[in-house]
Amino acid sequence: MASGFIAFLILTTSFFPFISRAGAYRPAPAASPSSPTGPPVPVPACVPSAAMAPVPLPLSAIKAGYWPSWINSTSPPSSINLSYFTHIYYAFVELDNTSFELVVTPSDAGMLADFTATLHAHDPPIKAMLSIGGGGGGGDTFANMAADCSTRSAFIRSTIAVAREYNLDGLDLDWEFPANPEKMASLGDLFMEWRDAISREAAETGRPSLLLTSAVYFASHFFLTGDTPRSYPADQMAVSLDWINAMCYDYHGSWDTSETGAPAALYDPNSNVSTSYGLTSWVEAGIPPTKVVMGLPLYGRTWKLKDPADHGIGAPAVGLGPGTDGVMLYSEVVNFNTENNATQVDDEITVSVYSYAGTSWIGYDNPWSVTRKIEFAQEHGLGGYFFWAVGYDKDWSISRGAWDAWQS
Ligand SMILES: *[C@@H]1O[C@H](CO)[C@@H](O)[C@H](O)[C@H]1NC(C)=O
Ligand SMILES: *[C@@H]1O[C@H](CO)[C@@H](O)[C@H](O)[C@H]1NC(C)=O
Ligand SMILES: *[C@@H]1O[C@H](CO)[C@@H](O)[C@H](O)[C@H]1NC(C)=O
Ligand SMILES: *[C@@H]1O[C@H](CO)[C@@H](O)[C@H](O)[C@H]1NC(C)=O
Ligand SMILES: *[C@@H]1O[C@H](CO)[C@@H](O)[C@H](O)[C@H]1NC(C)=O
Repeated sequence: MASGFIAFLILTTSFFPFISRAGAYRPAPAASPSSPTGPPVPVPACVPSAAMAPVPLPLSAIKAGYWPSWINSTSPPSSINLSYFTHIYYAFVELDNTSFELVVTPSDAGMLADFTATLHAHDPPIKAMLSIGGGGGGGDTFANMAADCSTRSAFIRSTIAVAREYNLDGLDLDWEFPANPEKMASLGDLFMEWRDAISREAAETGRPSLLLTSAVYFASHFFLTGDTPRSYPADQMAVSLDWINAMCYDYHGSWDTSETGAPAALYDPNSNVSTSYGLTSWVEAGIPPTKVVMGLPLYGRTWKLKDPADHGIGAPAVGLGPGTDGVMLYSEVVNFNTENNATQVDDEITVSVYSYAGTSWIGYDNPWSVTRKIEFAQEHGLGGYFFWAVGYDKDWSISRGAWDAWQS
């Protein structure tokens, strides 16, 4: 199939970017938001010093994961094997759509306290990060906030106050996605002012500086047919962020049921929609390699084959396969494969994995493909990796494999 057509089918990825909000995994939001309180935080400067020193490079590998707070009842922080992580992100809190301050619900407040206490009690302590936004929308609210200095300032001040109130080590922005070049420019202003405020707060309070990171598109620019062409403000991100988390997944999925696809292939011979292209694009855009952190999915995407005998990558499909809206957690994939005696294929060309049984087809990652991706990341001098999401693994097998594969 022509790569142009593949690109056209993929373009809708941006509407289903982050499986975080997929049906069954996300409960209804809890009621009654409370306003954050805490120590006074300096008012951010709208025009940060042009001579702002770049945030130093990370000193050691980032081995991170996002923890979806809505799985708390089955996978609370105490259930995480913290041996396999250096940083864990609490996912997510949102901003109020008029005040632009963070909304910490009573349920968030309880879970955040437990989250940071659990991570910090580990030896060595794990850094507790707070991620803002996610794939569930909210792009308009971010855009409204980021458009103006006074609303950016309100947002920034509230994020620092919340971080300190809950004893967090850092903040993460997951805006999916700034929709045009103007919004990308606002994002650059936001990051510069945010860093400026974080530096001044640390200097004024004598506390260790908060970390500042961002979850971003797999590539440094949007290039698919139908997308508004636009690039991230990489120059500003390079100086203001500790690192970026590139979301190297969801290349194919439920938005295209006409054929199977590798959801997170390292290589794609027919297109630039691949992890190798995306990560390289970030380095070429000017992010120091050690500030580029590779996203790894701990879930698969499924299709229903048209013909059980035609079961490769790109085989004709007629709909979604097993799972919830065509999504299965890695633990569910492993169980499905065993229960259905599925054939499992480690595909060398794409460095991705798939399995099939009857008309069911699943594309995913396993310890083999993750190890190959980590070799790629290390060969390119990148900063580390992160998982979406902590708790979706099968008995920590991929988490352990990744930890061991990344040689420091
Ligand atoms: C967590 O991982 C470590 C390192 O592999 C292992 O020694 C430990 O038994 C694991 N803990 C649990 C509760 O699985
Ligand atoms: C802001 O959020 C409230 C509560 O979720 C919602 O009812 C309202 O429609 C939103 N307003 C805008 C402008 O998005
Ligand atoms: C989170 O889960 C723990 C363990 O199941 C439970 O004790 C706690 O009440 C939960 N917190 C919230 C806010 O649901
Ligand atoms: C991939 O991107 C490069 C430039 O970054 C371009 O030269 C090439 O044509 C693209 N390949 C495809 C298949 O679109
Ligand atoms: C499982 O599949 C293999 C081929 O992949 C076949 O040889 C074997 O008989 C199957 N086992 C069962 C129990 O169906």
